[in-house]
Amino acid sequence: MSNQFDPIKEKIENLKQLLTQWEYQYYVLNSPTVSDFEYDETLKQLIALEKQYPRLVTPDSPTQRVGGKASSKLAKITHQTKMMSLANAFSYNELRKFDNSIKKESGLNEIEYCLEPKIDGLSVSLKYENGFLKTAATRGDGLIGEDITNNARTIKTLPIKIAYKEPIEIRGEVFLTKKNFAKINAQILDKDKKFSNCRNAASGSLRQLDPKITAKRNLSLLVYQIINKNEEDKIKQQSGIIEFLKLLKFKVAHEIKVCLGIEEVINQIEKFNVIKNTLDYPIDGVVIKVNQLDLYKTLGQTSKFPKWAIAYKFAPAIVTTKLKQIIATVGRTGRITYVAKLQPVELDGSIVSAATLHNAQYIVAKDIRVNDWVKVFKAGEIIPKIIGPVVEKRTEKLAKFIPFEKCPICGSKLEKIGDDVDQYCINNDCKARSLQAIIHYVSRDCMNIEGLSIKIIEKLWDHNLLKSITDLYELKNKKQEIINANLHIKDKMFDKLILAIENSKKQNLSNLIFALGIRHVGSVIAKKLAQIYQNMSNLMKVNFEQLMATKDVGETIAKSIVNFFANTNNINLINKLISFGVNMSFLTTSNFEKDSIYYKKCFCITGSFDIPRNEIKMRLEQKYDATVVNSITNSVDYLIANDFSSTKYKKAIANNIKIITEKIW
Ligand code: IVH
Repeated sequence: MSNQFDPIKEKIENLKQLLTQWEYQYYVLNSPTVSDFEYDETLKQLIALEKQYPRLVTPDSPTQRVGGKASSKLAKITHQTKMMSLANAFSYNELRKFDNSIKKESGLNEIEYCLEPKIDGLSVSLKYENGFLKTAATRGDGLIGEDITNNARTIKTLPIKIAYKEPIEIRGEVFLTKKNFAKINAQILDKDKKFSNCRNAASGSLRQLDPKITAKRNLSLLVYQIINKNEEDKIKQQSGIIEFLKLLKFKVAHEIKVCLGIEEVINQIEKFNVIKNTLDYPIDGVVIKVNQLDLYKTLGQTSKFPKWAIAYKFAPAIVTTKLKQIIATVGRTGRITYVAKLQPVELDGSIVSAATLHNAQYIVAKDIRVNDWVKVFKAGEIIPKIIGPVVEKRTEKLAKFIPFEKCPICGSKLEKIGDDVDQYCINNDCKARSLQAIIHYVSRDCMNIEGLSIKIIEKLWDHNLLKSITDLYELKNKKQEIINANLHIKDKMFDKLILAIENSKKQNLSNLIFALGIRHVGSVIAKKLAQIYQNMSNLMKVNFEQLMATKDVGETIAKSIVNFFANTNNINLINKLISFGVNMSFLTTSNFEKDSIYYKKCFCITGSFDIPRNEIKMRLEQKYDATVVNSITNSVDYLIANDFSSTKYKKAIANNIKIITEKIW
């Protein structure tokens, strides 16, 4: 029998080697040697043979990259050696200080450093045994990570089999190329669901429960560290580690440089700064590592960072451009936000043509004028901001900015409310206001009407089919009109939308209160009000003093609520909603886990999970009667995290807020 199998086995072996070699050339070396067609045809041959002889399928076969099944939960993996982070430097002087301390500790006059790009992805630990990838884990909190072996196997730059038989742990960074990131985001139509940056997208893709989804995302891997290198090993330098990893057919960064002395390092960083936007992978700095590995023990580490390395973070890019126009936009509460229209300019790899100016007071305080030259900067993913005008460049006599007096959309007089610095359009019929009000009403944290995207709402608006919140509940009577209006809404889609609208009638009172868009009433206050007053008619009757006696409700919120219910337009809206059958009561289930430490607590979430956040929110609400908010404030008790570099995470740590990594929902 084995005789009969041998030629086949050999054929399979040859095909596997060929395909592995081609993948390496294509993904790691970036120099394909065969056409996609030839690769696909050969892969098909292998698939057919393996199908015929399943016993000959081995884990290192290129067909087995997406072999793992979807799981319901990622298992935990305890790291044998803590996955550390890096100390940061933001100036060259900090680097010189770092260099001095290394010289002092080591007793050497000059230090050799290995410079590597700091890739903005997620660090992973890969363990190989007998030459085969055994486990892949995320960093997690540094001590315990998640088992992402099946997902890691789908990464084409990760060799599943290496020519090294000893157990070895290799660490590196999983990331998305800028091109793939753009591609993934382009496929997500819902604006709210798009990934805010490359790193989040990589994290979401790597931590999928179904490897098939990860495979589609085309993640990449660059490696830079070996953990359990034998003492007697011949490699003496970090640059040697990189060379060794290259030999093992891993992908390493091309831009690695060895420098003697810190001034050469600084020189090299300047060069990195110039080329950083031309690289296809996202980098947020440069990692400077002592090259001599035998110094690592002497230099040691703190509880968080090794003392033999430091990350130099690039300063945010600043450009000067001309401010062509100041416009005002109107939000759902009527609040005016000023925006600067700029002469398009390249900033950190993208073209910037607008920047936020907040409110009129901000513009006046900075004395920003139309036709001024302004300095613009972008820090990370945040939209561009203006530092201020370049006064020396003001050649003509430019008129001082005068705040708008009228709403740019409906022309009604803008008002200031109380001590608020913002201006408001208080015309309830203003198109901008009512359009934004509808968008808010249907959004995830409000009535959660799925499928009703901003685009569709705008189209329905333009066709006079949806002018107010109450029109939503009459759309079901306009099927033919909508289908005939050429809005790309077909029969099935229409039925789905109507079902989502009908289902929204069952939403809890807390969602409805938030959805009404009462100024200063966010989702947390809305939930509190719903719990205390139990139904809409109680809430409508409440007076200022009663509200002031409510925990967390201050004067501004109390006034705003009283004003809202004093307005007949709002009363009419609520009465109409009642007539459509929208739920007006606070729904509680008696199944809350009242003994849990999470009962009635306030949560915030950071990172991507296997289920959407609104689903997590709903489950937490149903299980613990919890409140879930979008940002870290004093009222947050727990941060549910799996993005350990997010601002929320940092804020939570700084404020001693407890971090949860378990899936408690
Ligand atoms: S070395 C003990 N090298 O940056 C330090 N890290 O901010 C091990 N990173 O957690 C890390 N590129 O995820 C190292 N060339 C590089 C890196 C790199 C990106 C990440 C890594 C680390 C984080 C620290």
